[in-house]
Amino acid sequence: MIETNQQYVNWFRHSAPYINAHRGRTFVIYLPGEALANANFAHTIHDINLLNSLGVKLVLVHGSRPQIQTASSKANVETHFHNGLRITNLEQLALVQATVGRQAMQLEARFSMGLANSPMQGSRIRTSRGNFITARPIGIKNGVDFSYTGEVRRVDAEAIGKQLNDGNLVLISCLGYSPTGETFNLAAAQVAGRVAASLQADKLIVFGADKGITNSRGEQVVELLTRAGHRLVHQHQNSGDSWSDLSMHIDVLSRACDAGVARGHLLSYKEDGALLSELFSRDGSGTMVIKESYEQVRNACIDDVGGILQLIRPLEDDGVLVRRSRELLESEIHYFSVIERDGAIIGCAALYPFDDARQGELACMAIDSSYRGGDRGQILLKHIEKQSSHMGLQTLFVLTTASSHWFIENGFVSAVLEELPTSRQSLYNFQRNSQVFSKQLL
Ligand SMILES: CC(C)(COP(=O)(O)OP(=O)(O)OC[C@H]1O[C@@H](n2cnc3c(N)ncnc32)[C@H](O)[C@@H]1OP(=O)(O)O)[C@@H](O)C(=O)NCCC(=O)NCCS
Repeated sequence: MIETNQQYVNWFRHSAPYINAHRGRTFVIYLPGEALANANFAHTIHDINLLNSLGVKLVLVHGSRPQIQTASSKANVETHFHNGLRITNLEQLALVQATVGRQAMQLEARFSMGLANSPMQGSRIRTSRGNFITARPIGIKNGVDFSYTGEVRRVDAEAIGKQLNDGNLVLISCLGYSPTGETFNLAAAQVAGRVAASLQADKLIVFGADKGITNSRGEQVVELLTRAGHRLVHQHQNSGDSWSDLSMHIDVLSRACDAGVARGHLLSYKEDGALLSELFSRDGSGTMVIKESYEQVRNACIDDVGGILQLIRPLEDDGVLVRRSRELLESEIHYFSVIERDGAIIGCAALYPFDDARQGELACMAIDSSYRGGDRGQILLKHIEKQSSHMGLQTLFVLTTASSHWFIENGFVSAVLEELPTSRQSLYNFQRNSQVFSKQLL
């Protein structure tokens, strides 16, 4: 809770790395009809507006189930569901078209708001809609004729991409069109998943009734691998329970991440600020879905701060590494590289360039103790050396108290303090009494 002016200033400063990380990225957001009808919806719209202001490219896919249900009841039209999908006959289709059309226009109106003294003041969001989704009929399955209920055949990612590059927020509904000129009613969550995959989006954010998923002990699952996601969906199907929204959401997220979407997020549409705390804070608010990446060395991003802290804290406690606060780490995250294994950070290293001196400092290098002795240290060092060469640096130096031999074995030679860039010499901590090593880069 922010109580003082100083806390506010600190909070705002610490959100800067997240703002930088998200700018220019593509996020697909799925809002079910229930979210649009929820009391918290005004806040959700304000937060989406904020993302737009921060330069995030946004696609909003909206569902309409409860609204269609209400319209059907009013018109005395009977509805049937099979496997969580509405069976849409011709009479229903007219209701669906009217309801979805009205809803899209209401959303456009919402995004056009700019009332003074509201979070929308000064915003100018241009929205765009179109025939981006090509659909095909589901047909008859197990004797059930789905009629005008269809599935996604193709997503026009190029057209959506053009709209996004023009700075437009793209609105997509649950309606798709077939080459025969017919309209089909689609499961909006599945549309969102396919759109995210076709765009190779950076994030697919799914709003559901629950705040992510919980494990058997009732604890929130912060991170779910797609493999585990598929297993959960499979278990659910085998349990004979009807296809719940939650399993459909896990299914959509897991498939999208397997198909190349960098991260999936499952949030609650009932929670005020869920979107902002998921995207701009370390702890997040829901469940993040990622594809099991076997092991990769890559540049760190803001989402890695938690993992790096977990890795280096024990080494800091032992005095092997210099202590870094989370704030410092967040602001310096762009200097870091990490080794990621199945979503966990098992190695990290930072490269601080001193451009004037054409030198770089290798610092905060650590491999998780369970994974040492597998050449990962060497692999990470090679990655840092490559980065240094790309930056035009000629020398890499390191200050170490406990791993001098490791560095010598990896081509470093003993150096003296005076060889370091002057600005670094003045920061030398004589109490730590670290040894200095350097390596000429080829
Ligand atoms: C140094 C470190 C990054 C090496 O990671 P790693 O993945 O185990 O390294 P590699 O697998 O590439 O190399 C392993 C070899 O180095 C040796 N080695 C590891 N740490 C060593 C050390 N501190 N001193 C001497 N040799 C060391 C191992 O014995 C092994 O050799 P062996 O196979 O002949 O027994 C890791 O030990 C670590 O995290 N240490 C604590 C943090 C630290 O000191 N960081 C450096 C300061 S910035």
